[in-house]
Amino acid sequence: MSGSPSPSRLALAADLIRDAEHVCVFSGAGMSAESGIPTFRDALTGLWENYRPEDLATPEGWHRDPDLVWGWYRDRAANLRKVEPNAGHRALAELGRTKRRTGGRVSIVTQNVDDLHERAGSTVDAHLHGRILGPRCEFCTYRGDPELSLATTRPRCPDCTGSLRPDVVWFGEMLPEREWAAATATIESCSALLIVGTSGVVHPAAGLPLLAAERGIPIIEVNPEPSALTPLAALHLEAAAAEVLPAIS
Ligand code: APR
Repeated sequence: MSGSPSPSRLALAADLIRDAEHVCVFSGAGMSAESGIPTFRDALTGLWENYRPEDLATPEGWHRDPDLVWGWYRDRAANLRKVEPNAGHRALAELGRTKRRTGGRVSIVTQNVDDLHERAGSTVDAHLHGRILGPRCEFCTYRGDPELSLATTRPRCPDCTGSLRPDVVWFGEMLPEREWAAATATIESCSALLIVGTSGVVHPAAGLPLLAAERGIPIIEVNPEPSALTPLAALHLEAAAAEVLPAIS
C-alpha cells in the first residue's frame, strides 16, 4: 500500500465517473470488507476451523453431508443479517440515483454472495456467484423465501423429492447462465468500468473486465493492493472502498 490517493487522482476518477453515461461496477469481497463480512477463508474459524473448502463448498461435499453444508451456509446467512452496507455501497447507490436523474445509469456486477448492494439501495444486474439468502431446490426450479436460509434444519423442497440448497456457485459448478449473459452485456456496453475490491484471480468472473479493456472502455480500480486486474486499469486508487467511493461518486 502506498498511502491515500492524491487529490488530483481522486479528481480524475470523479471526472471519468461523472462524464460516463453508464458506469458499470464490478465488485468483489473487498467491497464488503468494511461491513465486516469475512472472506471465504476467514469464515473457516470457530466451529468450522477443521473443515476444508471442499467439504463445505463443492457438489461432492453436499452429496457427502448436506446437513453440514447447510449449517455452514446458515451460519453465514445469520452473520449477514448482523452487518450493514458500508459507505462504499451507499455511495454507489447514491451515484445510481444521480445518474438516473440525468438519463444515465449505474449497473452492478458482483462476485459477492451478500445482499449489501441491494440493502444500500442499488439494483444488482448480475450476482455471478449466487446469493447466500434465498435457497433453491437441488433438483427442480423451486426457489425458497430468503428467510428459509436461516432455518436450522435443512428444508425439503415442497414441489419434488429434493432438498433446498444454498443458491451459491460452488467450486466446480458452472456460473448461472442468466447472470453471465447479463454481466457480459453490461460490461461490454458501459462507458466506464469501476472495479472494486477483487483480486481478479477467480475465473471465469475475473475475465470479464478484459471485455471492457478490449473495447477501450476506461477502467478505474479501487483496491488497497495491486490485483491481477491492475494492468487493465487507467487509474488505480490504492484505498479502501468505503473511504474512496464516497469521494469519487
Ligand atoms: N476495499 C477495497 N478492496 C479491498 C478492501 C477494501 N476495504 N479490503 C481488501 N480488498 C481487496 C484485497 O486487496 C483483494 O484484492 O479485495 C480483494 C479481495 O480478494 P478475494 O478475497 O480474492 O475476493 P474476490 O476477488 O471477490 O474473490 C472472488 O473467490 O472466494 C471466491 O467465490 C468467492 O466470489 C469470490 C471469488
